[in-house]
Amino acid sequence: MQVLRTVSDLRRARSSMVGSVGFVPTMGYLHQGHLTLVRRARQENQRVVVSIFVNPMQFGPQEDLLHYPRDEERDRGLLEGEAVDVLFIPSVAEMYPAGYSTFVEVEEVTRRLEGASRPGHFRGVATVVAKLFNIVMPTRAYLGEKDAQQLLVVRRMVQDLNMDMAIVAVPTVREPDGLAMSSRNVYLSPEERRAATILWRALQLAQGLYSKGEKRGRSIRDQMVHLINSEPSAKVDYVNVADAETLEDLEEVKAPALASLAVWIGKTRLIDNIMLK
Ligand code: PAF
Repeated sequence: MQVLRTVSDLRRARSSMVGSVGFVPTMGYLHQGHLTLVRRARQENQRVVVSIFVNPMQFGPQEDLLHYPRDEERDRGLLEGEAVDVLFIPSVAEMYPAGYSTFVEVEEVTRRLEGASRPGHFRGVATVVAKLFNIVMPTRAYLGEKDAQQLLVVRRMVQDLNMDMAIVAVPTVREPDGLAMSSRNVYLSPEERRAATILWRALQLAQGLYSKGEKRGRSIRDQMVHLINSEPSAKVDYVNVADAETLEDLEEVKAPALASLAVWIGKTRLIDNIMLK
Protein backbone atom coordinates (compact mmCIF):
# COMPACT_ATOMS: atom_id res chain seq x y z
CA MET A 1 0.00 0.00 0.00
CA GLN A 2 1.36 3.37 -0.97
CA VAL A 3 0.85 6.11 1.62
CA LEU A 4 0.69 9.50 -0.11
CA ARG A 5 0.34 12.90 1.47
CA THR A 6 0.30 15.41 -1.35
CA VAL A 7 -2.15 16.08 -4.15
CA SER A 8 0.62 15.88 -6.74
CA ASP A 9 1.78 12.44 -5.52
CA LEU A 10 -1.79 11.16 -5.53
CA ARG A 11 -2.35 12.49 -9.05
CA ARG A 12 0.83 10.78 -10.25
CA ALA A 13 -0.26 7.45 -8.73
CA ARG A 14 -3.77 7.87 -10.14
CA SER A 15 -2.51 8.49 -13.66
CA SER A 16 -0.74 5.12 -13.66
CA MET A 17 -3.86 3.19 -12.52
CA VAL A 18 -5.53 1.07 -15.15
CA GLY A 19 -9.19 0.05 -14.87
CA SER A 20 -11.81 1.07 -12.34
CA VAL A 21 -10.93 2.90 -9.14
CA GLY A 22 -13.01 2.55 -5.99
CA PHE A 23 -12.66 5.33 -3.43
CA VAL A 24 -13.56 5.38 0.26
CA PRO A 25 -13.30 8.83 1.90
CA THR A 26 -12.94 8.65 5.71
CA MET A 27 -11.90 10.69 8.70
CA GLY A 28 -9.91 7.74 10.05
CA TYR A 29 -10.11 5.89 13.36
CA LEU A 30 -11.43 3.05 11.28
CA HIS A 31 -13.96 0.47 12.43
CA GLN A 32 -15.79 -2.43 10.80
CA GLY A 33 -18.20 0.00 9.14
CA HIS A 34 -15.31 1.60 7.21
CA LEU A 35 -13.77 -1.78 6.45
CA THR A 36 -17.08 -2.95 4.97
CA LEU A 37 -16.93 0.02 2.57
CA VAL A 38 -13.34 -0.85 1.70
CA ARG A 39 -14.17 -4.53 1.09
CA ARG A 40 -17.03 -3.57 -1.19
CA ALA A 41 -14.72 -1.21 -3.10
CA ARG A 42 -12.13 -4.00 -3.31
CA GLN A 43 -14.71 -6.45 -4.75
CA GLU A 44 -15.98 -4.05 -7.38
CA ASN A 45 -12.84 -2.30 -8.63
CA GLN A 46 -9.37 -2.97 -9.92
CA ARG A 47 -7.80 -0.34 -7.69
CA VAL A 48 -8.83 0.99 -4.26
CA VAL A 49 -7.97 4.38 -2.80
CA VAL A 50 -8.85 5.34 0.78
CA SER A 51 -8.44 8.82 2.24
CA ILE A 52 -8.05 9.80 5.86
CA PHE A 53 -8.64 13.48 6.48
CA VAL A 54 -10.26 14.99 9.56
CA ASN A 55 -11.85 17.88 7.75
CA PRO A 56 -11.92 20.99 9.97
CA MET A 57 -14.42 22.66 7.67
CA GLN A 58 -17.24 20.30 8.63
CA PHE A 59 -16.91 20.82 12.39
CA GLY A 60 -18.70 23.67 14.17
CA PRO A 61 -16.80 25.87 16.63
CA GLN A 62 -18.27 24.01 19.63
CA GLU A 63 -17.71 20.55 18.15
CA ASP A 64 -15.13 17.83 18.74
CA LEU A 65 -12.50 18.63 16.07
CA LEU A 66 -9.60 18.83 18.56
CA HIS A 67 -10.61 15.64 20.35
CA TYR A 68 -11.67 13.68 17.26
CA PRO A 69 -10.03 10.24 17.68
CA ARG A 70 -6.98 9.57 15.50
CA ASP A 71 -4.64 6.59 15.18
CA GLU A 72 -2.81 6.62 11.88
CA GLU A 73 -0.64 3.60 12.60
CA ARG A 74 -3.57 1.38 13.50
CA ASP A 75 -5.57 2.62 10.47
CA ARG A 76 -2.63 1.87 8.17
CA GLY A 77 -2.40 -1.68 9.52
CA LEU A 78 -6.12 -2.26 9.00
CA LEU A 79 -5.99 -0.95 5.43
CA GLU A 80 -2.89 -3.02 4.59
CA GLY A 81 -4.97 -6.02 5.66
CA GLU A 82 -7.66 -5.10 3.11
CA ALA A 83 -5.20 -4.85 0.21
CA VAL A 84 -5.82 -1.15 -0.34
CA ASP A 85 -3.61 0.22 -3.12
CA VAL A 86 -3.27 3.83 -2.02
CA LEU A 87 -3.89 5.59 1.28
CA PHE A 88 -4.14 9.36 0.89
CA ILE A 89 -3.49 11.31 4.09
CA PRO A 90 -3.23 15.01 3.25
CA SER A 91 -2.54 17.68 5.85
CA VAL A 92 -4.94 20.56 6.43
CA ALA A 93 -2.47 22.89 4.67
CA GLU A 94 -2.40 20.57 1.65
CA MET A 95 -6.19 20.61 1.34
CA TYR A 96 -6.76 24.23 2.32
CA PRO A 97 -3.61 26.23 1.52
CA ALA A 98 -3.39 29.90 2.47
CA GLY A 99 -5.88 31.92 0.44
CA TYR A 100 -8.30 29.03 0.02
CA SER A 101 -11.71 30.56 -0.81
CA THR A 102 -13.93 28.12 -2.71
CA PHE A 103 -16.86 26.27 -1.15
CA VAL A 104 -19.57 23.93 -2.35
CA GLU A 105 -23.07 24.66 -1.08
CA VAL A 106 -25.82 22.10 -1.69
CA GLU A 107 -29.22 23.66 -1.01
CA GLU A 108 -32.62 22.21 -0.01
CA VAL A 109 -31.64 18.75 1.21
CA THR A 110 -29.16 20.32 3.65
CA ARG A 111 -31.74 22.52 5.39
CA ARG A 112 -33.10 19.91 7.80
CA LEU A 113 -31.89 17.38 10.36
CA GLU A 114 -28.06 17.50 10.54
CA GLY A 115 -28.03 20.66 8.44
CA ALA A 116 -30.34 22.44 10.91
CA SER A 117 -28.50 21.15 14.00
CA ARG A 118 -24.99 21.69 12.64
CA PRO A 119 -24.91 24.92 10.58
CA GLY A 120 -22.12 24.85 7.98
CA HIS A 121 -21.55 21.10 8.38
CA PHE A 122 -22.70 20.09 4.90
CA ARG A 123 -20.90 23.00 3.28
CA GLY A 124 -17.73 21.53 4.77
CA VAL A 125 -18.63 17.99 3.74
CA ALA A 126 -19.58 18.93 0.17
CA THR A 127 -16.46 21.06 -0.24
CA VAL A 128 -14.02 18.40 0.94
CA VAL A 129 -15.78 15.57 -0.87
CA ALA A 130 -15.80 17.57 -4.12
CA LYS A 131 -12.08 18.24 -3.70
CA LEU A 132 -11.32 14.60 -2.92
CA PHE A 133 -13.36 13.45 -5.92
CA ASN A 134 -11.49 15.90 -8.15
CA ILE A 135 -8.16 14.67 -6.84
CA VAL A 136 -8.86 10.91 -6.86
CA MET A 137 -11.19 10.85 -9.89
CA PRO A 138 -12.78 7.55 -8.81
CA THR A 139 -15.02 5.34 -10.90
CA ARG A 140 -17.11 4.67 -7.77
CA ALA A 141 -17.14 6.19 -4.29
CA TYR A 142 -18.46 4.27 -1.29
CA LEU A 143 -20.40 5.94 1.52
CA GLY A 144 -22.25 4.51 4.51
CA GLU A 145 -26.02 4.65 4.94
CA LYS A 146 -25.56 5.61 8.59
CA ASP A 147 -24.99 9.16 7.36
CA ALA A 148 -28.16 9.07 5.27
CA GLN A 149 -28.38 12.81 4.75
CA GLN A 150 -24.70 13.05 3.81
CA LEU A 151 -25.37 10.39 1.19
CA LEU A 152 -28.22 12.45 -0.28
CA VAL A 153 -26.08 15.60 -0.25
CA VAL A 154 -23.18 13.91 -2.02
CA ARG A 155 -25.46 12.27 -4.58
CA ARG A 156 -27.09 15.65 -5.29
CA MET A 157 -23.70 17.34 -5.66
CA VAL A 158 -22.37 14.65 -8.02
CA GLN A 159 -25.47 14.94 -10.16
CA ASP A 160 -25.61 18.75 -10.14
CA LEU A 161 -21.90 19.19 -10.88
CA ASN A 162 -21.87 16.47 -13.58
CA MET A 163 -19.20 14.47 -11.83
CA ASP A 164 -18.57 11.37 -13.90
CA MET A 165 -18.70 8.71 -11.21
CA ALA A 166 -21.10 6.50 -9.26
CA ILE A 167 -21.98 6.76 -5.59
CA VAL A 168 -22.45 3.38 -3.90
CA ALA A 169 -24.43 3.31 -0.63
CA VAL A 170 -23.38 0.61 1.83
CA PRO A 171 -25.65 -0.57 4.68
CA THR A 172 -24.84 0.43 8.25
CA VAL A 173 -22.76 -2.03 10.25
CA ARG A 174 -24.05 -2.57 13.80
CA GLU A 175 -22.71 -3.97 17.05
CA PRO A 176 -24.52 -7.14 18.22
CA ASP A 177 -26.86 -4.99 20.36
CA GLY A 178 -27.77 -2.78 17.39
CA LEU A 179 -25.59 0.29 18.07
CA ALA A 180 -24.38 1.64 14.72
CA MET A 181 -20.60 1.58 14.42
CA SER A 182 -19.11 5.05 14.65
CA SER A 183 -15.68 6.45 15.46
CA ARG A 184 -17.43 8.56 18.12
CA ASN A 185 -18.56 5.47 20.07
CA VAL A 186 -15.08 5.52 21.62
CA TYR A 187 -16.14 8.60 23.65
CA LEU A 188 -18.81 6.58 25.54
CA SER A 189 -18.22 5.38 29.10
CA PRO A 190 -19.37 1.79 29.79
CA GLU A 191 -22.61 3.14 31.27
CA GLU A 192 -23.17 5.47 28.31
CA ARG A 193 -22.38 2.65 25.91
CA ARG A 194 -25.24 0.67 27.46
CA ALA A 195 -27.54 3.71 27.27
CA ALA A 196 -26.63 4.30 23.60
CA THR A 197 -28.65 1.25 22.57
CA ILE A 198 -31.68 3.52 22.98
CA LEU A 199 -31.09 4.86 19.44
CA TRP A 200 -31.52 1.46 17.82
CA ARG A 201 -34.41 0.58 20.13
CA ALA A 202 -36.21 3.78 19.08
CA LEU A 203 -35.64 2.99 15.39
CA GLN A 204 -36.93 -0.54 15.86
CA LEU A 205 -39.97 0.88 17.62
CA ALA A 206 -40.62 3.06 14.56
CA GLN A 207 -40.31 0.05 12.27
CA GLY A 208 -42.60 -2.01 14.51
CA LEU A 209 -45.28 0.69 14.63
CA TYR A 210 -45.15 1.19 10.88
CA SER A 211 -45.34 -2.57 10.21
CA LYS A 212 -48.43 -2.79 12.42
CA GLY A 213 -50.14 -0.12 10.35
CA GLU A 214 -49.33 3.15 12.12
CA LYS A 215 -49.03 5.69 9.31
CA ARG A 216 -49.20 8.94 11.28
CA GLY A 217 -45.71 10.44 11.22
CA ARG A 218 -46.34 12.52 14.33
CA SER A 219 -47.49 9.51 16.35
CA ILE A 220 -44.41 7.47 15.38
CA ARG A 221 -42.15 10.41 16.21
CA ASP A 222 -43.82 11.06 19.58
CA GLN A 223 -43.52 7.44 20.65
CA MET A 224 -39.85 7.36 19.67
CA VAL A 225 -39.20 10.54 21.68
CA HIS A 226 -41.08 9.09 24.64
CA LEU A 227 -38.94 5.93 24.57
CA ILE A 228 -35.68 7.91 24.29
CA ASN A 229 -36.70 10.16 27.18
CA SER A 230 -37.11 7.06 29.35
CA GLU A 231 -33.30 6.69 29.23
CA PRO A 232 -31.91 9.17 31.80
CA SER A 233 -28.58 9.85 30.05
CA ALA A 234 -30.17 10.39 26.61
CA LYS A 235 -31.25 13.78 25.29
CA VAL A 236 -33.04 14.10 21.96
CA ASP A 237 -31.58 16.52 19.43
CA TYR A 238 -34.05 15.52 16.72
CA VAL A 239 -36.28 12.61 15.82
CA ASN A 240 -37.75 12.64 12.39
CA VAL A 241 -39.86 10.62 9.99
CA ALA A 242 -39.39 12.00 6.51
CA ASP A 243 -39.57 11.33 2.82
CA ALA A 244 -36.38 9.39 2.04
CA GLU A 245 -35.51 11.56 -0.98
CA THR A 246 -36.50 15.09 0.05
CA LEU A 247 -36.27 14.70 3.85
CA GLU A 248 -39.59 16.61 4.11
CA ASP A 249 -41.53 15.69 7.28
CA LEU A 250 -44.27 13.18 6.58
CA GLU A 251 -47.72 13.62 8.12
CA GLU A 252 -48.78 10.38 6.51
CA VAL A 253 -45.94 7.90 6.24
CA LYS A 254 -45.51 5.98 3.05
CA ALA A 255 -42.44 4.08 1.96
CA PRO A 256 -39.72 4.88 1.20
CA ALA A 257 -39.61 6.84 4.45
CA LEU A 258 -36.58 7.48 6.60
CA ALA A 259 -36.82 7.49 10.38
CA SER A 260 -33.73 9.28 11.66
CA LEU A 261 -32.49 10.66 14.92
CA ALA A 262 -29.69 12.49 16.66
CA VAL A 263 -29.37 11.87 20.38
CA TRP A 264 -26.92 13.11 22.98
CA ILE A 265 -25.63 10.39 25.26
CA GLY A 266 -23.84 12.43 27.88
CA LYS A 267 -21.48 14.68 25.88
CA THR A 268 -21.52 12.45 22.77
CA ARG A 269 -23.89 13.15 19.92
CA LEU A 270 -24.85 10.02 17.97
CA ILE A 271 -26.95 9.68 14.82
CA ASP A 272 -28.69 6.74 13.23
CA ASN A 273 -31.57 5.96 10.88
CA ILE A 274 -33.71 3.22 9.42
CA MET A 275 -35.61 2.99 6.15
CA LEU A 276 -39.21 2.09 7.06
CA LYS A 277 -40.36 -0.91 5.12
O1 PAF B 1 -18.43 10.53 6.69
C1 PAF B 1 -17.28 10.99 6.87
O2 PAF B 1 -16.41 10.37 7.47
C2 PAF B 1 -16.95 12.38 6.36
O3 PAF B 1 -18.05 13.22 6.43
C3 PAF B 1 -16.35 12.39 4.94
C4 PAF B 1 -17.34 11.85 3.93
C5 PAF B 1 -15.09 11.54 4.92
C6 PAF B 1 -15.99 13.81 4.54
O4 PAF B 1 -15.09 14.38 5.42
